[in-house]
Amino acid sequence: MRHLLAIRHLENDQIQAILDRAADFKKNRPEPAKNPRTIGLLFFENSTRTRVSFEQAAHGLGHRVVNFSGAGSSLSKGETLRDTILTLRHEGLEALVMRHSASGSAQLATQFFGNPVINAGDGEHEHPTQALGDALTILERKGQIKGLRVAIVGDVLHSRVARSNAWLLSKFGAEVRFIGPRTLMPSHTAKLPAKTFFDLRAGLEGADVVMCLRLQKERMQDGLLGSISEYTGGYQVNRAALKAAAPDFMVMHPGPLNRGVELDDATADGPASAILEQITNSVFVRMAVLDWAFEENRV
Ligand code: NCD
Repeated sequence: MRHLLAIRHLENDQIQAILDRAADFKKNRPEPAKNPRTIGLLFFENSTRTRVSFEQAAHGLGHRVVNFSGAGSSLSKGETLRDTILTLRHEGLEALVMRHSASGSAQLATQFFGNPVINAGDGEHEHPTQALGDALTILERKGQIKGLRVAIVGDVLHSRVARSNAWLLSKFGAEVRFIGPRTLMPSHTAKLPAKTFFDLRAGLEGADVVMCLRLQKERMQDGLLGSISEYTGGYQVNRAALKAAAPDFMVMHPGPLNRGVELDDATADGPASAILEQITNSVFVRMAVLDWAFEENRV
């Protein structure tokens, strides 16, 4: 068995093995598991697409799921995360898919759970299955990742999606660029595998892939942005801004979208948009990740 906590520490051949398996599951639907497992979906933050796609993935493989949300759990009665995890382990859960607002929470869960833990987003740290689904989507449209210029635009500061994607895409030879206002850029971008741009047009120059990020209003302390319209004026991905991109650019967004903020409707719904493909592919990569997590270590 294995955990999936972050892209950063995975080897390229492990990532490739998951992507190959996801592509295979998409083509030839998987056989139901010989050994069905019970998988806990433990979500302490709001989620629609990630939770539903993990549930679809688990069902697609013939596993059972048990759902919890932070608000309805014993944590709201003062229980520690450690005790919640120990309880779930002793109730017989065989894997845990976890989303939590604290960076490092999935890693913490591995110390007490004893079975595979899959990080479905931990604070501002990583969201590995999002990056894997995005990689599959890019591969389907572009054929390869190596040599692509990928511009990741917006609220990089709060984005685990930006971090996981930067690690994955740079490991596979893409040039990754972060674009956003100074107040929404981490102070330590030098430690992340991306170049930083504060000007949208300069950052989008020649971009093959333009990945928008959601403005994470729930994580934002007051004052990081003057106003939403100030952000939109400087950083909205729209037809005018995309003139700087490569002729056959594609547009992505992990969702949920703030339409008219991060990107305009014409871009979100136009032919260059791969947003719906990202959602479909996320189910197949999550199947592949569950399968990989349960198997004996090979790659
Ligand atoms: C992202 C998340 O929660 O990290 N959404 C997702 O999983 N598709 C991005 C976001 O909430 O902005």
